[in-house]
Amino acid sequence: MSNGIQSVRGMNDILPAQSASWQYVEAVIREVLDGYGYGEIRLPVVEKTALFSRSIGEVTDIVEKEMYTFEDRNGESLSLRPEGTAGCVRAGITSGLLYNQVQRLWYQGPMFRHERPQKGRYRQFHQVGLEAYGLAGPDIDAEVILVAARLWRRLGIRHVRLELNSLGAPSARAMYRDRLVTYFERHAGALDEDSRRRLQTNPLRILDSKNPAMQELIAGAPSLPDFLDAESRTHFEQLQQTLSDCGVAFQLNPRLVRGLDYYSRTVFEWVTDRLGAQDAICSGGRYDALVELLGGKATPAVGWALGMERLLAVLEAEGGTPPLPVPDVYLVLAGAAAERVGTRLAEQWRDAVPGLRLLLHCGGGGLKAQLKKADKSGARHALILGDDELASEVVALKPLRAAGEQRMVAWTAVAETLRALVAARDNP
Ligand code: HAM
Repeated sequence: MSNGIQSVRGMNDILPAQSASWQYVEAVIREVLDGYGYGEIRLPVVEKTALFSRSIGEVTDIVEKEMYTFEDRNGESLSLRPEGTAGCVRAGITSGLLYNQVQRLWYQGPMFRHERPQKGRYRQFHQVGLEAYGLAGPDIDAEVILVAARLWRRLGIRHVRLELNSLGAPSARAMYRDRLVTYFERHAGALDEDSRRRLQTNPLRILDSKNPAMQELIAGAPSLPDFLDAESRTHFEQLQQTLSDCGVAFQLNPRLVRGLDYYSRTVFEWVTDRLGAQDAICSGGRYDALVELLGGKATPAVGWALGMERLLAVLEAEGGTPPLPVPDVYLVLAGAAAERVGTRLAEQWRDAVPGLRLLLHCGGGGLKAQLKKADKSGARHALILGDDELASEVVALKPLRAAGEQRMVAWTAVAETLRALVAARDNP
């Protein structure tokens, strides 16, 4: 492969052996979101760069160093989307969906960030995101969190925990920011290089530092909850009350600030101890100022996005991935005459039996070799059509997994037999 073209670092193929798990999780997500009245919105992968710099923030890691930005042939600066919220707001404004309305939307698809790849962190990764617009109260904050909690339950995921914080109103956040800068400036000598840079641009992010040498300093920093405005405090308390009423456990994490600038009030992360450093599988919060910032009428908003790769890794670690689908039957065609008739019969049986998984042998070869392939395919049964069967208008049905005799089935009865196999598969 050294002369061949390699995939782009951090961008992965999802092979058939994995895609069954993806489809299973996607189906569960769709069902849960349907149950809460969220409608799917499909968004472009490419947007104008300014959309992201204005919403996520000029001095965030994502915009400063992680976006895939390029000029198109007209010289316009475009970027591969690093996340879905900005595009969702842009689409909501341009389509009029957000004007004086309540909207519950969700989206899924690839996102792109030029981060250092490691387990659970990729340059192309996939999010499912959910956004609710036009509702300002803590009831909808609770709802979006409850949707996630239900998802984990439906998938049988137990090793996740919810961390919760409130950033307060923008004015409270600005006051906190000033205090934080004063504090860190007093200890400027103890700041690492990254934090010194952030002190000028995005001081709240210093709280997110993973550098062990910084932890003591961070622990002594002013605490965000002490700066909450009264309204945000009430909002946050009501949210906690609803979550408790609904049996959703959470931990308050006053250091949780999130890496995107658009948040105000509620922020949260579902984290797991199953993935090492990349521990957030679903994160989000309230972003009441963003719709107006991007040119719409002021509209409250709250949402989250989950990382599919991380969710699947947790699911696998907990043994919850579904078995791969296998063919119900593998149609063995022994001889030129059987080959000719076999394709037509297979099409008829597919017409007659909804949901049938029939693998048609292609490429010729002897009976023994074909049966070997049937076995390797994982099929539960082989259907064998040779010259003799052709002459009598029957097929041989041979169980490949369970004990049982091979038996002949008349062509006129094959559909019924296959229907019974499919029914037994779906109701084991
Ligand atoms: P985020 O925290 O940047 O938030 O990303 C959301 C989730 O995407 C993370 O919790 C993680 O599971 C996954 N993720 C992020 N980066 C990577 C990566 N490089 N590789 C694999 N997975 C990754 C947002 O994107 C916000 N738009 C969420 C939101 C929606 N807030 C309000 N509404």
